[in-house]
Amino acid sequence: MNVTEALKLRHTGRAFTPEPVDKETLLEILEAANATPSWANTQPWEIYLAAGEPLQRLRAACLASFNGNQPPQQDLARPGKWPPQIEERMHELGKKRFESLGVRREDDEARRAMSANGIGFFGAPAVVFICMDRSLSQWSVFDLGMLSQSIMLAATERGIGSAVAYAFVAYPQLIRAELDVPDEFSVVIGIALGHEDAEHVQNRFRAPRRPLTEVVRVAGL
Ligand SMILES: Cc1cc2nc3c(=O)[nH]c(=O)nc-3n(C[C@H](O)[C@H](O)[C@H](O)COP(=O)(O)O)c2cc1C
Repeated sequence: MNVTEALKLRHTGRAFTPEPVDKETLLEILEAANATPSWANTQPWEIYLAAGEPLQRLRAACLASFNGNQPPQQDLARPGKWPPQIEERMHELGKKRFESLGVRREDDEARRAMSANGIGFFGAPAVVFICMDRSLSQWSVFDLGMLSQSIMLAATERGIGSAVAYAFVAYPQLIRAELDVPDEFSVVIGIALGHEDAEHVQNRFRAPRRPLTEVVRVAGL
């Protein structure tokens, strides 16, 4: 598989089979992704890979918090306000995803089940939590973003499905407790890795992209 093929194939899988991914493959993915560039080669990422019993305990603890109506408290807060055209794209995504699942927007129960699916790491057998020192700036978050895409492309090349999600880090204190993440690290994002349940309705949807003519302004060509 070449890089362009991997870029096109990668998508957010929101349902995984329970089949584990072997440790060797997971470490191979992380080894490949560790070649990601960063500001002055600072390599600000601290990676916690969870599978097996620790992940099951963490999943249960996160779901218990969610079911107990504990408000999510990500270390990196989500923006309170978005520019209107961006907000519109988010709205469109939600609408299309609900449609693909046959869920009505007003169906609170179904929406809650969708949220719970995210809190429970989409049932994935492995999750990578990407952390960094709290004192770092947006430039290090940028580096972590690049690392995330590298992980997902390396996974795609190996036939492993992935999902990057803010929902996975809704309860960072539980992640800290289970995986011994020190307080001085922010738990920035999580990436689920596993065998995608290809038949699952959650995985039929593909998010559209803006056309290149809208996204790119060319000069001098
Ligand atoms: C930083 C980040 C956070 C995300 N958080 C979530 C999330 O909490 N729940 C979810 O279902 N998808 C989440 N996504 C997935 C996006 O919705 C998805 O990448 C986007 O719709 C494009 O679809 P694709 O990944 O299938 O190409 C997140 C993606 C990124 C990059």
